[in-house]
Amino acid sequence: MDIPRQHTIRERHHRILDPFTDEKLAVLGRALRLTPGTTVLDLACGTGEMLATWARDHGTVGIGVDMSSVFVGRANERAAALGVEVTFVNDDAGDYVAPEPVDVAACLGASWIGDGVVGTLSLLERSLRPGGLALLGEPFWREDPPDETAVIGSGAPSRHLFRSLPGLVAQLREAGWDLVEMVLADEDSWDRYVAAQWLSTREWLDANPSDELWAEMRAELDTAPLTYVTYQRRYLGWGVFALMKRP
Ligand SMILES: C[S@@+](CC[C@H](N)C(=O)[O-])C[C@H]1O[C@@H](n2cnc3c(N)ncnc32)[C@H](O)[C@@H]1O
Repeated sequence: MDIPRQHTIRERHHRILDPFTDEKLAVLGRALRLTPGTTVLDLACGTGEMLATWARDHGTVGIGVDMSSVFVGRANERAAALGVEVTFVNDDAGDYVAPEPVDVAACLGASWIGDGVVGTLSLLERSLRPGGLALLGEPFWREDPPDETAVIGSGAPSRHLFRSLPGLVAQLREAGWDLVEMVLADEDSWDRYVAAQWLSTREWLDANPSDELWAEMRAELDTAPLTYVTYQRRYLGWGVFALMKRP
């Protein structure tokens, strides 16, 4: 099971595949007051950095599911390097339910797996024990994009797919969840996610001149930095929202 190879080219040196840094991931783990033995499910876990570092730092026990065999391979390597036990499954997470109810169920940066915010929360809820925590990593508009060029440049599939931060928080409340914590990305942490892709892309281009994706990746690097600083860095926010179902 796999995803387009362009992702694994751009992000092959990334451990976190979202606009968080190591520090922000650690802040989130501390904010949630995780204790040893806390069970965590991470749907679309990427390279498993959250599960691996939280297992190291808090003694959590985890399962991660991701569609990319490359990312799951790297997740297993990372868990082994940190000496932690995390189970990674290479599969579509769109209807994955944990074998036993978990304390924390997460989906960071992939809410399309449940067809949007509300559907993804319902998917997470199917694996959560009563009173458990759902973690949703989701974009929002920091500023209203002035036109369609700004929407496309921000990387959003459409203007209406994302809301403002108050709009997103209201949506979470209307869906029946209490927002109990949040950690937000900032421009510097966005740079660690996006700008870090450019060097990986350039090094890959230099090393793979006859690859069938070479022209496409070359064209991407020609425009990606300017598009990012003009639109995405300004207009798009991102955060992880910790939620508990309202009784
Ligand atoms: C933006 S990355 C986020 C990864 C990780 N949650 C993180 O924050 O570092 C999106 C991830 O979703 C995975 N993915 C996309 N569609 C998926 C699906 N249907 N089921 C499981 N994983 C999926 C990709 O392979 C990728 O690892």
